[in-house]
Amino acid sequence: MRRPHQPYADAFAHHRIDLMVPSVEAAIAAQLRDMGLVTLDGLTSRDAVLAFATRIMHLVPHRDSDSDGLTTIRDTRRHPHRAGFAGFGHGELAPHTERSGTPNPPRLMLLVCGQAAVTGGESLLTDGQAVHTDLFLGGQEAGLALAQPRTAFFGAGDGHTTQVFTVHRSQRVSVRLRLDRLARWSPIVQPHLPQLRTAAVSHQITLALAPGQGYLLDNERWLHARRAFTGDRLCWRALGNPRIPMTRGFAPAPEAVPPAMLSEAG
Ligand SMILES: [Fe+2]
Repeated sequence: MRRPHQPYADAFAHHRIDLMVPSVEAAIAAQLRDMGLVTLDGLTSRDAVLAFATRIMHLVPHRDSDSDGLTTIRDTRRHPHRAGFAGFGHGELAPHTERSGTPNPPRLMLLVCGQAAVTGGESLLTDGQAVHTDLFLGGQEAGLALAQPRTAFFGAGDGHTTQVFTVHRSQRVSVRLRLDRLARWSPIVQPHLPQLRTAAVSHQITLALAPGQGYLLDNERWLHARRAFTGDRLCWRALGNPRIPMTRGFAPAPEAVPPAMLSEAG
């Protein structure tokens, strides 16, 4: 499939930081603040993933995590059609924010490949800054509507009322999205959902992770998705909040700075 916005040939190499370099935490912090995404390799065991994750973040345990704080992502064949459990199947996943239906989603998400799929299973990542910019081009209507407070409800009965773009007091922006059956929308934003979905897909970069390779993303900026797969694909995931200070959200592109508008303190 053609990816018209793919800005570089090898997205993994473009974002990679070598874990063997001195002061790697500082390099990772700088890139997280600047780009919101780091790719990594050499994490060839669950213990290695856990050791790295705890250097970078305070792990946040949640519904699906195991006793060590990591989550094993594989096709469990247990919840094939249950909303909110699609990650534990083998199907395609649409672009989303991790834990979008909770009041405070974890700021960081680390996903490492333990075993690659036989076919498919690539990770597809979208920079929310690019999506935000897209929705402000050709008139600001879509971007402004999607920043209106309380125009989305994400999750099941215990979900969270929110909006796709949260504009902080600093004028930085956070993105929060899901596009599955657990997303409900205000009539204000309904007309803009096709444009939003198109932007979230057209800006995807593709990572075909081999065992030991992974990505670390800012969950307030990047959306993640995956292609359907066959085989016993297995990944380890860590969710948590950074040990380093990180300002809320991302700096919007200059052409996408909305007029003075606050949708949420922060
Ligand atoms: Fe996810």
